[in-house]
Amino acid sequence: MGRCCFYTVGTLSLLLLVTSIALLVARVFQKAVDQTIEKNIVLRNGSETFDSWKKPPLPVYAQFYFFNVTNPEEILRGEIPRLEEVGPYTYRELRDKADIQFGDNGTTISAVSNKAYVFERNQSVGDPKTDLIRTLNIPAVTAMEWAHLHFFRELIEALLKAYQQTLFVTHTVDELLWGYKDEILSLINVFKPEISPYFGLYYGKNGTNDGDYVFLTGEDNYLNFSKIVEWNGKTSLDWWTTDKCNMINGTDGDSFHPLIDKDEILYVFPSEFCRSVYITFSDFKSVQGLPAFRYKVPGEVLANTSDNAGFCVPKGNCLGSGVLNISICKNGAPIIISFPHFYEADKKFVSAIDGMRPNKDYHETFVDINPLTGIILRAAKRFQINVYVKKLDDFIETGNIRTMVFPVMYINESVLIDKDTASRLKSVINTTLIITNIPYIVMALGVFFGLIFTWLACRGQGSMDEGTPDERAPLIRT
Ligand SMILES: *[C@@H]1O[C@H](CO)[C@@H](O)[C@H](O)[C@H]1NC(C)=O
Ligand SMILES: *[C@@H]1O[C@H](CO)[C@@H](O)[C@H](O)[C@H]1NC(C)=O
Ligand SMILES: *[C@@H]1O[C@H](CO)[C@@H](O)[C@H](O)[C@H]1NC(C)=O
Ligand SMILES: *[C@@H]1O[C@H](CO)[C@@H](O)[C@H](O)[C@H]1NC(C)=O
Ligand SMILES: *[C@@H]1O[C@H](CO)[C@@H](O)[C@H](O)[C@H]1NC(C)=O
Ligand SMILES: *[C@@H]1O[C@H](CO)[C@@H](O)[C@H](O)[C@H]1NC(C)=O
Ligand SMILES: *[C@@H]1O[C@H](CO)[C@@H](O)[C@H](O)[C@H]1NC(C)=O
Ligand SMILES: *[C@@H]1O[C@H](CO)[C@@H](O)[C@H](O)[C@H]1NC(C)=O
Ligand SMILES: *[C@@H]1O[C@H](CO)[C@@H](O)[C@H](O)[C@H]1NC(C)=O
Ligand SMILES: *[C@@H]1O[C@H](CO)[C@@H](O)[C@H](O)[C@H]1NC(C)=O
Repeated sequence: MGRCCFYTVGTLSLLLLVTSIALLVARVFQKAVDQTIEKNIVLRNGSETFDSWKKPPLPVYAQFYFFNVTNPEEILRGEIPRLEEVGPYTYRELRDKADIQFGDNGTTISAVSNKAYVFERNQSVGDPKTDLIRTLNIPAVTAMEWAHLHFFRELIEALLKAYQQTLFVTHTVDELLWGYKDEILSLINVFKPEISPYFGLYYGKNGTNDGDYVFLTGEDNYLNFSKIVEWNGKTSLDWWTTDKCNMINGTDGDSFHPLIDKDEILYVFPSEFCRSVYITFSDFKSVQGLPAFRYKVPGEVLANTSDNAGFCVPKGNCLGSGVLNISICKNGAPIIISFPHFYEADKKFVSAIDGMRPNKDYHETFVDINPLTGIILRAAKRFQINVYVKKLDDFIETGNIRTMVFPVMYINESVLIDKDTASRLKSVINTTLIITNIPYIVMALGVFFGLIFTWLACRGQGSMDEGTPDERAPLIRT
């Protein structure tokens, strides 16, 4: 009986160990979990993924920071601008997808992303309706640019003079963001009705969308989940000079495919950037107790490299690292985009302005993604809107101004998963963790029985070693 038990334990231990190794090698449970996730994270009518894609449950905050000009006369005399950052003015973004239609047997889905902005007084420094900001007169600078391109040249020159436009204007935060009626634009509008008489950095963006999208649902392949295939009816852009630069890559940045590998490069097409960008893995993070991969936009995305030569428009006209001329997709307004405070840009941009303090923690763009589900746990998208200014001999308004990339405003669009959503996600993650760890549990059992087996073996031998003389002695004696 003892001997039988001894061998049973030994065999059991061996079997468990072999099974666990076989399970580990064949990755049975890992594959089962991956397949379940691949099948479930798909944009399918009625699925949980679809519902949270359609109406994102987490609140997104848009925080605007303006640069108040403190020395306008000196700037016109050719001195360095001294700017003061004012902000945040925080708005909660209400997002939802509309005009949803499935196509191609559920492998594609078309939709628009509507966004509305609601002001949050208690997370802001002041009231946007009364706070005044002195900044560049962007409509006038734009009109000068149009005149420079021999477009309404005489008219614009006359208008700027007649209306005594100055290069710096003072407006409320609300006007600068959501629009005000501009004198020059109103007059140009009379001759060219397609030019709106209103100007605002976010004019017409409240309650509207940035165009029609066609996404892949992930039904055919999980790697294609929420990938953009078409934007405004086009599969690629036509603003840049090479095909690679014109590609629309990846998702819109609001969702990512599940089962992310940290060696992977993720592509994002933020339409306000007028180009696709990529993000790369930088760190392991923990957000509300959930594991995350921190992905960030590397400095190389806007660097002066041969890959980016296609973004230097007109061809060959590179401004340097860390800035992107998006004038071509902003109606000819000389808008230059960068990271806030020229973070990761050439030193010359930072030193041309008094008041730029680039800082990794405050100015980098990152996203913390749960690698298993692809769900965004925390993110901050930060970019700055600048205007290219230079002295124009035809316009006395520009005085003796230096040629420079002049910061106007930057935005921090951020999101953080709340505790409730995090704990629900945590239970899902824990379940998959238990399932994928079954082989280790089996292995632990095998080791446990192996130890019992060893213990039995040792005890068996020990009792023989000690027992034999004891038993023999009486035998000899009797
Ligand atoms: C999803 O299904 C519901 C109910 O069947 C239907 O009313 C709705 O139109 C469907 N949505 C789409 C985008 O097909
Ligand atoms: C949709 O499915 C049908 C039947 O399975 C097939 O004949 C058709 O080619 C599919 N269409 C697309 C666009 O995949
Ligand atoms: C945007 O629109 C919403 C709803 O239409 C409104 O409540 C909100 O005040 C608007 N925001 C701004 C900044 O005008
Ligand atoms: C901020 O305002 C909102 C309502 O607009 C309110 O629900 C919230 O409690 C306020 N937060 C603080 C910290 O006062
Ligand atoms: C910005 O500068 C102007 C002019 O100096 C000043 O009137 C205004 O109060 C400043 N705005 C803020 C929000 O500090
Ligand atoms: C979907 O993914 C597969 C595999 O990665 C790829 O071959 C295919 O081209 C993708 N579909 C589209 C439309 O990008
Ligand atoms: C788009 O992705 C391709 C690789 O798939 C890459 O070669 C190209 O540079 C990317 N374009 C942009 C603008 O990111
Ligand atoms: C961009 O890089 C090229 C080649 O490395 C260099 O010749 C050029 O001066 C750079 N341009 C700027 C604006 O830094
Ligand atoms: C920015 O791009 C526009 C449109 O291609 C071009 O006209 C302008 O000269 C560029 N600005 C600079 C500073 O290179
Ligand atoms: C957004 O970024 C700014 C600096 O860029 C920072 O001051 C602010 O705290 C950030 N907001 C959130 C909610 O992370």
